[in-house]
Amino acid sequence: MHREFHQQVQTELDAMADKGTLKSFQHLQAPMDAHTRMEGKGDILIMSSNNYLGLASEPSVIEAGKRALDEYGAGTASVRFICGTFEIHRDLEQRLAAFFGTERALSYVACWNANTGLIPTILGPDDVVISDELNHASLIDGIRLASKTPRAIYRHADMEHLAEILKEHSGARRKLVVTDGVFSMEGDLAPLDRLVEVCREHGAISLVDDSHGTGVVGKTGRGVAEHFGVQDQVDIYTSTLGKALGGAAGGFVASSAPVIGLLEQASRPQIFSNALPPTVSASALEALRVLDENPGRVAELQRKVGFCRQLLAERGYEVNDHPSAIIPIMIGETAKAIEASSALLDKGVFVTGFGYPVVPEGTARIRVQVSYAHSEDDFVRFADALDSVMKG
Ligand SMILES: Cc1ncc(COP(=O)(O)O)c(C=O)c1O
Repeated sequence: MHREFHQQVQTELDAMADKGTLKSFQHLQAPMDAHTRMEGKGDILIMSSNNYLGLASEPSVIEAGKRALDEYGAGTASVRFICGTFEIHRDLEQRLAAFFGTERALSYVACWNANTGLIPTILGPDDVVISDELNHASLIDGIRLASKTPRAIYRHADMEHLAEILKEHSGARRKLVVTDGVFSMEGDLAPLDRLVEVCREHGAISLVDDSHGTGVVGKTGRGVAEHFGVQDQVDIYTSTLGKALGGAAGGFVASSAPVIGLLEQASRPQIFSNALPPTVSASALEALRVLDENPGRVAELQRKVGFCRQLLAERGYEVNDHPSAIIPIMIGETAKAIEASSALLDKGVFVTGFGYPVVPEGTARIRVQVSYAHSEDDFVRFADALDSVMKG
């Protein structure tokens, strides 16, 4: 063993602990829901989960996974092109394509893989990729993997800046504009109505990662493009199955048949890594069915977000008014956000503090996320706990 190396790494961790920025990891002993059981803490209220539609503990979603385990076993034990894919993958992908209104969809074991497997596959040295400055890390890493493609960053949601950059790169073969649908740290929406227009004017292709918008935003939960009425104008969607759509894991690309066809042939996570476990595919498929058949669930989630936001505003907190389920409460210093989160946990409320480097220095926050599973009493309990930590 290289003792010196391991010691150096320990010193790095110690430095994080000294700065108060070391994250702690909790262990849950019951399904993800509005409340769950945490090792050493007992019953806790979860205000920081991506389980937006409350489907992670939905009985039919759990049952679907169990049935798939019986039907297909644990998995293919191989990558797709070597040993094939289960029917349940095809069923899921067809349902995802129908949900997004695209010709086809392709699942990955995570949206992280979808983003990092997509971007380098469709871009080459004669292209350009232009990215919102607040995009998710998986999009940033996807762009980094397209290492021969020139890249540029536009100011957050600034469509004039985007247009200027597109003009500078008018000679590029493909111009790919990349954005989150809902920005995960702020909860704001990409201005997709204008973005698709700018793309059209400049002959650019749009890629929207709607991981925090899927199941949450838009009348029927089809995301930010539905909210802006431009669903048929986005070229490529990526999103996750690990949040509103059951919460297990998994991600996907939804786009035209040629784009998906190319990904099947050449996207590295597709050809060098196993497909989603069939259990996860079946749970996600059932989550989509529940969502399709109960669009009222989305409206109810949106009503609850409004309730929570109003309650926090009445208690004197500055809250955003974006139509997502993410409500950041700004704290400032990273150590303070982590401290607030830990004090809240002592009061039985789990809400994560985010600091540098996830968000810029000085803008640390706790990120409140609302779920369909929450009751109004949960929001009041949370607001009381927050008051006692922040004002107490
Ligand atoms: C915008 C965005 N894209 C991608 C991901 C990664 O999703 P997954 O957990 O499916 O890899 C996340 C997760 O936090 C996200 O917020």
